[in-house]
Order: sequence, then C-alpha cells, then structure tokens
Amino acid sequence: MSALAVSHVYPLGSRLNERGRLEVGGCDVVELAAEFGTPAYVYAEDDMRARARAFVEAFRARTERFEVIYASKAFPCTAVYRLFSEEGLSADVASGGELHLALAAGMDPKRLYMHGNNKSPAELDYALESGIGHIVADSFDEIARLSGRAQRVMLRVTPGIKPTTHSYIQTGQVDSKFGFPMDEVPRAVEACEAARLELCGLHAHIGSQILDVEVFEKLGEVLAAMGDYPLLNLGGGLGIAYTAEERAPSIEDYVDALLRHAPDDVTVLCEPGRALVGNAGVTIYTVGTVKRIPDVRTYVAVDGGMSDNLRPMLYGARYEAEIADRFGGGEICTIAGMHCESGDVLVRDVPLNDPRVGDVLVIPATGAYAHAMANNYNAVPRPPVIFCRDGDARVVVRRETYDDLTLRDR
Ligand code: LLP
Repeated sequence: MSALAVSHVYPLGSRLNERGRLEVGGCDVVELAAEFGTPAYVYAEDDMRARARAFVEAFRARTERFEVIYASKAFPCTAVYRLFSEEGLSADVASGGELHLALAAGMDPKRLYMHGNNKSPAELDYALESGIGHIVADSFDEIARLSGRAQRVMLRVTPGIKPTTHSYIQTGQVDSKFGFPMDEVPRAVEACEAARLELCGLHAHIGSQILDVEVFEKLGEVLAAMGDYPLLNLGGGLGIAYTAEERAPSIEDYVDALLRHAPDDVTVLCEPGRALVGNAGVTIYTVGTVKRIPDVRTYVAVDGGMSDNLRPMLYGARYEAEIADRFGGGEICTIAGMHCESGDVLVRDVPLNDPRVGDVLVIPATGAYAHAMANNYNAVPRPPVIFCRDGDARVVVRRETYDDLTLRDR
C-alpha cells in the first residue's frame, strides 16, 4: 500500500504510511501506542509551529501593528508555552495556575495577559508580583482591587454581538458574566483613572468555534468606534474543522476581518486558542470490547472517555474516528468510553473498519480543550501528552499514576 494523505482534520503532515497506519509528525501511532500506552494525546509539533507562523505572517503582510496572543486555556502545558514563545507569540492566562505554567515555561511576564471574570486577590497579587504585562479588567470590583497598583490594564467589554456557536461558548452578548456592557464603559474608564491604573485599550471575546468571519469584522468596527485606544484586542474564537465535511475560514480571511476597521495607529491583538492547537492533536485509545447488539447498535469501547475529552458530553461536539491501521471502514459504530455512565459516548454513529479488540483507535482534532479539560472521574489517571516531530516522539506531560491519585489525600 502506498502512502496516502488523510483528511484536513488531522495534523498537518499526517499520512497513512506504507503499512496503512496513521503517521503523525512522522511517528506511526500504532508504535506510539505500544511505546507510551493508551489513551494518549499525540501532537504534531510542526503543525502548531506552522499555524503560529501563519497568524504572524498574515498580520505582517497587512500591518506592523499587531500581537498574536496564544489563548493558553486551549492547551496549557509548559512545552506549548515554550513552543509558541519561540514562535514569537504572547500568551493569555485565565487563572493563577495558567500564569504559573507560563512562568515555569520561562515566558516573559511582560508578554502575558491575564483574564478572568473573578480573579482572586491572591491571583492578582501573583500577577502583579510576577510583573505581568497586562491585566484585562472585568468588573468594578476588580478595578477596586487593583487600585493604586500602577498596572497596565485593558477593559473587557461585551459588545452585544452573538456569534453562531454553542450557547455555552458565546460570550459577547450583553447578558454575560464577562466584562462591561457598552454603556458602562465610560464609568469603567473613570474608575480606572481614579484607581491610577494605566488603561491601554479595550478587549472583547465574543465566543469560540466561530466559523463565519464577518462577526469579527463587526466586532472590530464596534470596538474601533468606542474611542481612541492604542490597543484593541479582539479576543479569540476562530473555529476549526472537526469532521471532514467541515471547513474553517482561512487565517488570512480571519486576519483581514480583524483589521478591516482598525485605525492605522492602533495595534490589533487577537487571542487564538483552538485554531493554533485543535487540529494539531489526536487522541489514541485501545479498543477493549466490541459489543454488537443485534438490530440496535455496535458499541466499541475504548480505554478513555469523558475523563480525557468532555466536549462531546458538554457541547454535543461531533468528532471523527478511525482504526489507526485500517482507515475507511463502513460499519456504523458508537464509540463508548469506560466511565460509569451511559452519557460517556465519544462519537455516536461513526463508520469504522471491522473494529477488533486490541485495535488502536484514533480520534482527530482533539488538540484543544481535551487535555485542558481532562479530569479524574472514576479515579482514572490522565493521559500523557506526546509531541512528535520528524519521526521522533517525546513525552512532554507524563501519564498520571495511581500514586498521583493519592498524593493529596491526608
Ligand atoms: N480569549 C478569551 C478571553 C477566551 O475566553 C477564550 C476562550 C479565547 C481567547 C480562546 O478562544 P478560542 O480561540 O480557543 O476559541 N471549552 C470550550 C471552549 C471555551 C472557550 C473559552 N474561552 C470548548 O471546548 O469548545
């Protein structure tokens, strides 16, 4: 069998090798499963680098005034902060924990932005003591907490724009726990002045997994009309393809939309998370049971589930799946996890090629918000993260052990 390309939802450079097995970053995933065990998150390092460069180049071709900020909540681990800072990106952190990871990775604190609708006094102290570049202020209470600290801040606003996406990940509407409604912004500006904070600009994030770029253009227009600020941060949200039928907007079209209404002297910032890492990663599992219930359904159960990917359960997210060394099957199966509830289904009704016990099963496009939202339900240890490049694989986050599970118990 000759090498074949796989669909665009797989990491860039993925292919089926001569043995008909999926290769990610030049590594045969069946061999990775044997070496590192399953489940495991497998990333193509070059995919993330290529996307980071695509963002930077798209801006650079259009303006000198820009900053690309990695929204690290999509996939927070030190190796990733390091990778993106090598590519010249800044990062945003949404908690003291993410700040800790970014600093542990050696990121320049000046290149960090801190978000959160309820940053605790301890988190704010940690950020200030670390010399963080910007804090994105989200409420009057927070401005009061920062009073007198001479910090550079931005104001998060809710521009009243509702993109088409799952309601749980819409954030720009007025009825939101985030930010200041537009008509409160003048009062928030005054509060920043009274608190002696250095207000550098406005920020808005209208939602996530957005596949139509016009809303970003609208957002740019609304923010630019709100006053003269050196920085305008239009947040993240650019969507990705999860299944072969889906198409995501190009990074160029997205950047065009962000810049369309930006005044020349303004620096435009954006915060992609999913679009930088989502398609870079796949999850590999081992098939443990194949239960064919006559005239009902075939359940293919794998050794992970809602502990390593909550997205299907939380947002009804749809994924593809394949047997790693037998792509392109026609038997409709439901991929169940190993957790103790019926809702633990990773993919419903997906065609697989004659699934058998012991097969390695791969779910693509799990690079964003899978590892990030992993949990220990049923005391299942969380999977490792493996970076692959040019045929070499390295563990950047090790697998959790049973001893890790008792580490905090007293
Ligand atoms: N900036 C801010 C302020 C955000 O709140 C977010 C995401 C981003 C940037 C990055 O958005 P992205 O480019 O990744 O769409 N767990 C959900 C996604 C929640 C996103 C929350 N905020 C999911 O799995 O779909």
